[in-house]
Amino acid sequence: MKNKSLISISDYSVDEIMEVLELAKEFEKNPSQRIAESKVIASLFFEPSTRTMMSFESAANRLGARVIGFNEVSSTSVSKGESLSDTIKTVSLYSDLIVIRHHIEGAARFASEVSKVPVINAGDGANQHPTQCMLDLFSILRTQNTLDNLDIVLVGDLKFGRTVHSLVKAMTNFNTTFHLVSPVELKLPSAVKMFIKNRKLKYYQYTSMEEAIKKADIVYMTRIQRERFSDPLEYERVKNSYTLSKNLLVDVKPNMKILHPLPRVNEISEDVDNTPQAYYFDQALNGVYVRQALISKILGLK
Ligand code: CP
Repeated sequence: MKNKSLISISDYSVDEIMEVLELAKEFEKNPSQRIAESKVIASLFFEPSTRTMMSFESAANRLGARVIGFNEVSSTSVSKGESLSDTIKTVSLYSDLIVIRHHIEGAARFASEVSKVPVINAGDGANQHPTQCMLDLFSILRTQNTLDNLDIVLVGDLKFGRTVHSLVKAMTNFNTTFHLVSPVELKLPSAVKMFIKNRKLKYYQYTSMEEAIKKADIVYMTRIQRERFSDPLEYERVKNSYTLSKNLLVDVKPNMKILHPLPRVNEISEDVDNTPQAYYFDQALNGVYVRQALISKILGLK
């Protein structure tokens, strides 16, 4: 895995993903391991972020690495018209690893092709979010003690949800049964559904979540993402399609846990936060351990 960019979750084999998750367990037990003191990590966020950006920075700091970068494009030469190619070529001279979030699908892949150092995709438009996928897998493993033979209910924006696209691809390796809950306009794209069909796995589509969540080992809630809609009226029509509230958690499986990549708007009521099923803030914490593991592997430190 040394020097290997991570742009799509499919770039890493199942064995490589499992290696990262195993190492993340080690960082969970002992997060402060200053094994990257000589390293510089560039954090380039062309799109807003709280968790991904800060958990990468937290992971880098706990490893003793230094972080350079930006989260305001207006403060960089991009605002003067510099190309992504020139920006990446330059930043790769100053760092050992680049973490990039960009609103254009394919921007991270392009960055990895012009960079002298490995690149991690921290989310490219509606396409992929592979490190979120790894922390989602870690969270599923932590809560279910296995990744195999689970029923996963994915709810919300399955069309534009990059975390959903990455997770579905990854879970097709583990004999998952998928329950896809979305408004008709926001169904899982055919290209992602093809991964399920190619593995001959079962999937069911719904427009309401009540029936589906009773079958779930994992309920993966997602936000309807205003920023992905070109027509604001269309967003207004679907924005409140789903709200998971405490009263819907009767008759669920005893092992069922609720994940959400966050941020949430109103798709999970706050009355769910203190239920035994709520796991989304633990999930956000897992992001630090998983990113510590990934950085260590790519930099050849573990
Ligand atoms: N899960 C996630 O990508 O959150 P942020 O947008 O806050 O990074």
